[in-house]
Amino acid sequence: MDVRRLREDFPVLQKKINGKNIIYLDSACMSLKPRSVIDKMNEYYYDFPCCGGRSVHKLGTQVTISMDDARTKLQRFINAKQAEEIIFLRNATEGINLVANGLALKDGDRVLVSDREHNSNLVPWLRLSTLKGIKVEVVPSNPDNTFDLEMLESMMGNDVKLVSMVHTSNLDGYSLPDKEIIDMAHDHGALAMLDGAQSAPHKVIDVQRSDVDFFVISIHKMCGPSGMGVLYGKYHLLDELSPFIVGGSTVKNVTDSDIEFLPPPAKFEAGLQNYAGIIGAGAAAQYLMDIGLAEIEAHDNDLNRLITKQLSNNDQIELIGPKDADLRGCVFAFNIKGMDSHDIAMILDELENIMIRSGMQCVHSWFNRNKLKGSARASVYLYNTEEDAKIFSEKVLEIIENFK
Ligand SMILES: Cc1ncc(COP(=O)(O)O)c(C=O)c1O
Repeated sequence: MDVRRLREDFPVLQKKINGKNIIYLDSACMSLKPRSVIDKMNEYYYDFPCCGGRSVHKLGTQVTISMDDARTKLQRFINAKQAEEIIFLRNATEGINLVANGLALKDGDRVLVSDREHNSNLVPWLRLSTLKGIKVEVVPSNPDNTFDLEMLESMMGNDVKLVSMVHTSNLDGYSLPDKEIIDMAHDHGALAMLDGAQSAPHKVIDVQRSDVDFFVISIHKMCGPSGMGVLYGKYHLLDELSPFIVGGSTVKNVTDSDIEFLPPPAKFEAGLQNYAGIIGAGAAAQYLMDIGLAEIEAHDNDLNRLITKQLSNNDQIELIGPKDADLRGCVFAFNIKGMDSHDIAMILDELENIMIRSGMQCVHSWFNRNKLKGSARASVYLYNTEEDAKIFSEKVLEIIENFK
């Protein structure tokens, strides 16, 4: 993987702020966008800025063809069996909400989640516990912050209808043992959903191999446009799933009293769509497939290993998550003793245009349970260099030296 060359694909990396290039280490929040994605989206606005799936004229047809093409690219991206299993939505959050509201869950049904869920895979279930009386139960991790499969096994039972877990955590970059979790859920008659917001940008996803039932993707974290997400579901499950937002484009026919919904994906994609976003999502998936997800994963982990080596032995640094960098993918999350994480982020930005995330990372339940106010999180991606990792590490050490 030629990172120097890849960097040229990203217009914002060519820009300077206060005379310096940026060191972007906030890709777990949102990735940067390559020119090929931006150009594809502009092409829609310049050349065929019309409605897909309805109008039969030439421009409308071009939108429909482009949407179908994007759906097929996403199908290939996660190795889904058929393109109809790909639902385009606003984000991963909407995908989880769709499943939460579309499954026929009832009073007393149990849903199991991990102890490091993003709010997007916790709040929808907690809300259902209030509205419908479902029980949301948290599977505690091992003391070394790895997933406890024995604990999951001990919590399973006939009343568990869904195991819904983060695939790769945005808290610390740790990836849960997906295949084991999915198989265990199925062995006990439950469905399995993975929140792939952080995994899909960084590793090969194969939904047929893993046998996951539902999988959500955050397109804006994988070089695609903001305001785009994908829900994957096995076709027969999508067929049974109730739509959440309904209206135009979701129906085959309507009378004054009856509705006949279209089959998936149409019944879930209500109203005119974010066509540029969908086309951009396809371009982003293609961009990453062309580079190779296995190469990206190895590159990210190399950089994280470098950062971990330089920082993790410092006694002022408290690392979040497993000690081993190989277990934390692209994320180095930490605190400096006695410092607020927002101060660390602001000083790094001020010193060297180093951009990281700070605060509770939308994983409030974990921070509250661990009585922490937040963390500073650096996350690397395909466009980061060893130099980025070194400068980041040096500046963190400088903060410990000069600002504490
Ligand atoms: C693990 C995880 N799940 C879900 C989300 C929400 O993704 P989206 O913004 O696409 O809804 C995020 C975003 O940070 C995330 O990191």
